[in-house]
Amino acid sequence: MKNILVTGGAGFIGANFVLYMLDKYPDYTIVVYDKLTYAGNLDNLRDVENDPRYAFVQGDICDAAAVEKAIKAHEIDTIINFAAETHVDRSIMNPDAFVQTSVYGTYVLLEAAKSLGLERYHQISTDEVYGHIPAGYSSKEGDLLKPRSPYAASKASADLMVNAYFVTYGLPVTITRGSNNIGPYQYPEKVVPLFSTNALDEEQLPVYGDGRQTREYQYVVDHCEAIDLVLHEGVLGETYNIGTGEDIENLRMVEILLETLNMPHDLILHVEDRAGHDRRYSLDIGKIKALGWNPRHTGEEAIVKTALWYKDNEWWWRKIKSGEFRAYYEAQYGKRLRDAGEE
Ligand code: NAD
Ligand code: DAU
Repeated sequence: MKNILVTGGAGFIGANFVLYMLDKYPDYTIVVYDKLTYAGNLDNLRDVENDPRYAFVQGDICDAAAVEKAIKAHEIDTIINFAAETHVDRSIMNPDAFVQTSVYGTYVLLEAAKSLGLERYHQISTDEVYGHIPAGYSSKEGDLLKPRSPYAASKASADLMVNAYFVTYGLPVTITRGSNNIGPYQYPEKVVPLFSTNALDEEQLPVYGDGRQTREYQYVVDHCEAIDLVLHEGVLGETYNIGTGEDIENLRMVEILLETLNMPHDLILHVEDRAGHDRRYSLDIGKIKALGWNPRHTGEEAIVKTALWYKDNEWWWRKIKSGEFRAYYEAQYGKRLRDAGEE
């Protein structure tokens, strides 16, 4: 493994992964292949833009000819696929791009990896493929997939296709399923950056329903370390969960965030819940721990560090929040906020 194609590398986790890998492995070259949707942002990669070991190619993973061209031009031996439409609320409004990118796009990448004889294909997946998990249980890698949102279903479909290429063609694949990542460069539609930036602007924080849903909030660099470990030590054909083992209620996450930013609790506004909202995800992380990984941050540390990053990096998020984001915010929250008594 030396020349890695990181698809979706201009997004949140992909960019953090590129920065992490270039820092750790002086001999690797990384080519980011990214369509630059609303969520892709070259500002995320500005720290490496002049690094000779890094290159950027703008392209769609659904475009087989462009994918093949990038792989050949850069002598790629490994694909790590982060590219996806990733926001559950947008998948509820319009699932089309989710199916295109995660289902067809993943197939295109697998086919390229097979026909060009690549050394390795790694798929970045999510705990959402297991669906809502009742209290007292944590999902294991072999559990049935029961995705409940169009986003989760598109990701589960991709996992099944990756597995099929391992079984049918012997393609050297691995899959990791991460929990809710937070940290630098996360598009402010996701709850922690949305609420941090809203709080800094003294705007309401629209908590869905009762706010008692739980998530495993994980610091993104911990996730990157685990992906790196699976790339180097993981068993081909296997899937690894990457979480924290720690449930945090959304209302607790909001409290930590407001205390960190020293902002008042009356910014919290309960609004209409998300359709089909999964109340809990929980990952059994015994398998990745046995490979030698442990999270370095607790959920609380991850939330504090993330909120402070948004406080210190207005240069990054202010321009995003004044762009296409405004139309999205009105479509997603306008009626909810008005119904809950705002505006
Ligand atoms: P993101 O939305 O921040 O970034 C996605 C990136 O993919 C963007 O740069 C976008 O331009 C690119 N992209 C989208 N469609 C594309 C296409 N058709 N061709 C090429 N590029 C395309 O996402 P993220 O939060 O960084 O998530 C990255 C991956 O990790 C996704 O596969 C997601 O499902 C998975 N994941 C995310 C989380 C999380 O908490 N954010 C947790 C577990 C797994
Ligand atoms: O679990 C991993 C997944 O985490 C990833 O696969 C997804 O790509 C990523 O978007 C994330 O999905 P969630 O739906 O869990 O994340 P989100 O930040 O949208 O929401 C987190 C929780 O906060 C969830 O219970 C819904 C709630 N929420 C979210 C938003 C945006 C609110 O209460 N209000 C909001 O405005």
